[in-house]
Amino acid sequence: PYALAGRHFLKELDFTQDEFRGLIELAAELKAAKKAGTETQRLRGRNIALIFEKTSTRTRCAFEVAAADQGASTTYLDPSGSQIGHKESVKDTARVLGRMFHAIEYRGDSQEGVEELAAHAGVPVYNGLTDAWHPTQMLADVLTMVEHCDRPLNEIAFAYLGDARMNMGNSYLVTGALLGMDVRIVAPKSYWPAEEVVAQARELAVASGARITLTEEVGEGVLGADFVATDVWVSMGEPKEVWDERIADLGPYAVTMDVLRATGNADVKFLHCLPAFHDLGTKVGREIHERHGLDCLEVTDEVFESAHSVVFDEAENRLHTIKAVLVATLS
Ligand code: CP
Ligand code: NVA
Repeated sequence: PYALAGRHFLKELDFTQDEFRGLIELAAELKAAKKAGTETQRLRGRNIALIFEKTSTRTRCAFEVAAADQGASTTYLDPSGSQIGHKESVKDTARVLGRMFHAIEYRGDSQEGVEELAAHAGVPVYNGLTDAWHPTQMLADVLTMVEHCDRPLNEIAFAYLGDARMNMGNSYLVTGALLGMDVRIVAPKSYWPAEEVVAQARELAVASGARITLTEEVGEGVLGADFVATDVWVSMGEPKEVWDERIADLGPYAVTMDVLRATGNADVKFLHCLPAFHDLGTKVGREIHERHGLDCLEVTDEVFESAHSVVFDEAENRLHTIKAVLVATLS
């Protein structure tokens, strides 16, 4: 993994399969060391800027705790707390922060934005989520799959249900393809990833041996899956008005106990990058409940709280995998 020194992480395909696997192995080592109390600090004296143009719980905390564990410092720039985009271009911001920091994390709408930052910063830039990709999330999901399945990655099948047109759907498809997995996108056709993302995945699959399925049929899509994953039906930055159509279109793709049973795998595990609308106990959730009379959205509370659910392992793994990215690119 140290061969990754100085590299950006803007999308999954910035790394080869071996490099991606190397990061997973390093994350597992770092996780074990932290739990054993034997972690050594390899990032002392490093400074990392964290730009969040969208809100975050896990990604921000993972970067901050990972950096602190490794002896590095972080500076958090919140959606309103910097000049970026309002008064100063991304290019100028990149050149300023690149003079002060050893690395920059960026979360925002546009993939072009994070790429522009990387082109001008002169230091490693990490994508903490854009509309197009969520690459650090994929490391956590793959580590979680490795931990919860004793077969090699190329013998693991997973199905993603829901809105697959943006970050999570795109990222699952190409990550599964990169790693030679059996990856299924289960959604109405109009919610499938863009043609070019599918083409990219199919090309990767030729080399990796991955099996790629896009289907509208839940039963066919989940049969034999080791993992079933979903994500919110309305992503950050999308207008509230789209809820009605999403509920109508994606309702049949909610992850219920029936969906888990349809895998035919009593040991199937459930993944969700979080935050999740499983009990509608949040402010936004209550509004949806009042308006639509629903008790859950993309996943039922029963599934979320069941023994199938590994979502909190997945959330914890954000820390260990983001730490692996920092150590691999900065030490
Ligand atoms: N999964 C994820 O990225 O969570 P946050 O939005 O809380 O960072
Ligand atoms: N698709 C979601 C992922 C959140 C981690 C969003 O972009 O809001």
